[in-house]
Amino acid sequence: MSNILIQNIKGLVLSHDRKVSGLKMNDLPLIENAFLLIEEEKIKDFGEMKDSPERADEVIDATGKFVFPSWCDSHTHLVFAGSREGEFADRINGLSYEEIAERGGGILNSAQRLQKTSESELVEQALCRIEEVRGFGTGLIEIKSGYGLTVESELKMLRVIKKLKPQTDLTIKSTFLGAHTFPMEYRSNRKGYLDLIFNKMLPQIADEGLADYIDVFCEKVAFSPEETIEIMKAGAKYGLKPKIHTNQFNCMGGIQASVAHNAISVDHLEVVNAEEIEVLKKSETIATLLPSAPFFLNDHYPPARQLLDANLTVALATDFNPGSTPSGRMSFVLSLACVKMKMTPEEAINAATINGAAALEEDANFGSITRGKVANVFITKSMPSVAYLPYSFGSDLVERVILKGK
Ligand code: NIG
Ligand code: FE
Repeated sequence: MSNILIQNIKGLVLSHDRKVSGLKMNDLPLIENAFLLIEEEKIKDFGEMKDSPERADEVIDATGKFVFPSWCDSHTHLVFAGSREGEFADRINGLSYEEIAERGGGILNSAQRLQKTSESELVEQALCRIEEVRGFGTGLIEIKSGYGLTVESELKMLRVIKKLKPQTDLTIKSTFLGAHTFPMEYRSNRKGYLDLIFNKMLPQIADEGLADYIDVFCEKVAFSPEETIEIMKAGAKYGLKPKIHTNQFNCMGGIQASVAHNAISVDHLEVVNAEEIEVLKKSETIATLLPSAPFFLNDHYPPARQLLDANLTVALATDFNPGSTPSGRMSFVLSLACVKMKMTPEEAINAATINGAAALEEDANFGSITRGKVANVFITKSMPSVAYLPYSFGSDLVERVILKGK
């Protein structure tokens, strides 16, 4: 059996073993002057240096460095074709994200590009992005469909995600987001598109085992709460649990609908009202915040402090996509969480590790330094403290990545 021993770790960041909520998120378990022993794919042991084994197949000296559990990025749209910097310039010149969407840009722009791109080309582009986020310290990631918007292209996207899995040591979970927006030809026949999702997409997805979750973009420019409910119900018939895009621009009942249908998470939450916080308090649904989206759209940030004060479970993710967030850099998400949402570095790290894992129902296997969990960790460059990571927002502090013990 092969093993790796990391010694003299200045700070071994443990995170919590299971999801953590509210003010408890400010507690970040950490061992100073520590060792970490990895055996095969798993975390075998860890503790203070004085208790460290002496030998291993490979010994890494981490003097002055920190070791973190890999980031768990529970919300991305990492499979896409090309880029949309034209819309970036349009927004600089005064158009809003919603205006661009209404005139057929935005998601539809990406859908047009994706429909014309082959499966193998999409795999190639996505693998480059996966390689990039691996270097940023991400080890578990969710990827959504939603730039297909036809039966053929939604299936193509999900098959691409499936093909990525054996080609990377990141662990990937897949989400069906056929309900990302209405294709142009269905804008006056919304029911027609829903029927396509119900009768053509979902049965085939289930047949091929292509998705773990179902998502809907519940928003004025996309799907209503009533439509969202219908789609969640249809997904449930095939065992797909909901993770829902909601409250990005408007409070319109998306949180209430999602909670009523046992959503694993509600994602975005740039706008949330008191009633919605009450509804979340009575649920197990995780509030997943994506602050690099409002950063890039120059919009306002989710009220993270209110959510934490209400004792909710908050996760952080990138939302990596070509429109609202062309970045998969988790450390920047942490910096934004601290600066713009007043989360402490400790809260942000718990949110980006164990709570991200919980938002993918993987907190038994990922998201913390726990004996028996998958050995997904990164070693930083020399740094003085944990807070230094979100503080030095422009630096690349991830020096070495170990995923599944390799
Ligand atoms: O999470 N809000 C909806 N979906 C994505 C953006 C998609 C796009 O603009 O391409 C998001 O921000
Ligand atoms: Fe998203």
